[in-house]
Amino acid sequence: MLLVLVFGISISHAGITTTKHNLSTSGPGPIKATTEQRVCIFCHTPHRAIADIAGISVPLWNHTLSSASYQLFSSATLLSPTSPSIQPDGSSRLCLSCHDGTVALGSVVNTGNTFSSLTLIGTAASGVMPEGVNNVGTDLSGDHPISIELNSTLMDDKAQQCDNGLVSFKVCRPPAGSPVLLEKTNNRYGAGAATGMGVQCGSCHDPHEDPVPGSTVFLRVGDRINHDQLCNACHIADCAAACP
Ligand code: HEC
Ligand code: HEC
Ligand code: HEC
Ligand code: HEC
Repeated sequence: MLLVLVFGISISHAGITTTKHNLSTSGPGPIKATTEQRVCIFCHTPHRAIADIAGISVPLWNHTLSSASYQLFSSATLLSPTSPSIQPDGSSRLCLSCHDGTVALGSVVNTGNTFSSLTLIGTAASGVMPEGVNNVGTDLSGDHPISIELNSTLMDDKAQQCDNGLVSFKVCRPPAGSPVLLEKTNNRYGAGAATGMGVQCGSCHDPHEDPVPGSTVFLRVGDRINHDQLCNACHIADCAAACP
């Protein structure tokens, strides 16, 4: 038991140091610090952290949050509400604090000794994420919906919509034991059965694990090319089937 525990911890630490999320001087990617050697500090701090975002607790967060407002995914068949506002919340705000390209990558709340930014090379001018696929910007209209509750009301409504022949995938919660997660959101779906748990960036991505940089892209399951298992954790191709 103890061995499993120790082994598990050593894997997850080695996990992040070889990924592009290691922004310290030892990082493998083009974007890294000029002098900062600590790995976690770009995202977490033990003191003076951002502890919650609109009532949703976040893990001792250190990176300055973005104040952008986002254009969101919409479609004729999407059931999740477009009103009231479904601006990203919860863990998605953490990812977007670097990935929307509006906040300097080295801008943190607590550097441990001073209260200024950490200096990085490889960034765009002004210190933000360079243009390209990793800078998702503030227009998320072409991106999978995030910050939406996935509860039994949505699952039932989806079945109803399947009956109408508009969509051929039924939406379900990830089965027990799946690496795919539902995470906290304030954007509730429907009247009943509110759980406050839904789809966020962190549902599909684990920011600490990326075995093959450029390929596995921090996905909880699969890689850039093959990720059907990820999608099928929540979308079932048989409208008549029961959710697992
Ligand atoms: C590039 C940003 C980033 C770095 C660097 C980072 N983390 Fe995280 N961490 C996150 C995000 C984002 C979450 C929330 C994930 C979610 O909710 O899905 C998180 C969550 C956590 C959590 C709570 C939930 C969990 O997944 O266990 C712990 C503990 C944690 N991180 C520890 C660490 C440690 C220790 C380090 C340094 C070795 C580290 N992190 C480095 C982004 C980062
Ligand atoms: C429903 C699952 C899902 C959600 C939610 C999700 N992603 Fe992804 N993401 C993927 C998959 C699958 C890929 C790899 C395929 C691709 O790049 O299109 C990917 C790729 C990426 C990439 C690499 C882009 C590239 O083309 O190389 C970035 C950066 C990224 N995601 C960031 C985010 C951020 C930030 C969020 C939240 C705003 C998010 N993702 C939410 C599934 C998801
Ligand atoms: C402290 C800033 C920061 C935070 C917070 C952060 N990232 Fe990143 N992320 C980066 C940087 C920097 C890169 C490397 C970009 C490059 O090399 O072009 C990166 C790369 C990625 C990639 C591409 C990996 C590859 O191999 O090309 C994905 C996917 C990604 N991040 C997803 C996420 C998700 C999802 C979250 C939240 C759970 C998150 N990131 C939080 C800074 C961050
Ligand atoms: C964690 C659960 C989860 C995962 C994983 C997931 N989705 Fe979704 N997806 C949802 C939810 C919830 C909705 C919103 C459904 C609604 O409101 O009608 C949605 C919406 C969509 C829509 C829009 C449907 C419409 O009617 O406009 C598409 C398309 C989609 N997902 C495809 C994918 C693909 C492709 C993947 C894998 C890369 C994926 N999803 C992974 C939960 C998930």
